[in-house]
Amino acid sequence: MKRLPIGILGSGKGSNARAILEGIRSGKLAADARLVVSDVLDAPILDIAREFGVPNAFLPPGRFRTRLEPEAEDQLVKMLRGAGVELVALAGFMRVLHEPMLNAFPRRVINIHPSLLPKFPGLEAWKQALAAGEKVTGCTVHYVDEKIDHGRIVAQREATILPNDTPESLHSRIQILEHELYPAVIAELCERYREANL
Ligand code: GRF
Repeated sequence: MKRLPIGILGSGKGSNARAILEGIRSGKLAADARLVVSDVLDAPILDIAREFGVPNAFLPPGRFRTRLEPEAEDQLVKMLRGAGVELVALAGFMRVLHEPMLNAFPRRVINIHPSLLPKFPGLEAWKQALAAGEKVTGCTVHYVDEKIDHGRIVAQREATILPNDTPESLHSRIQILEHELYPAVIAELCERYREANL
């Protein structure tokens, strides 16, 4: 079976990466996890990659805080291309990607964000939704462009905000939805890849 070669980028705990890798292991996802990359040396996402036997690497990000040093982004492109990656899934990657990556993988980089975009881009989106008094929030998978949490929306899941929700309780409900939505979207892209239609 033709499997979509994917790369996963993350900076943190990697629960979405785990959901994707479990989807592959259980046969629900016709993907081949080629590489997991983190800009954080001791990020748990790299341990998860090791646990699943997926090649993984730390990418020194350089001197900026919210983006990769241009040389580092070029290096990332080389690593992903070298691994034969055709779809890049951002899973809690805390740096904004720029031309080297977006030109190398046009319409081939997706992200998951914990709000119903276009509402509440940026950090701690679930807290933003609570503070705004929303009744419903959720999560979004979207294509990545040069703006933060911005490109074309692929799919969303809604979470009702309960009267007694705390930021923590709301975030954990949204994460449960993320762990269903992200693998489901990637499964759909795998299907399109198999039909040579990605
Ligand atoms: C997720 O909530 C995702 O929406 C956001 O970053 C978080 C990553 O969580 N982009 P994890 O590292 O996958 O647990």
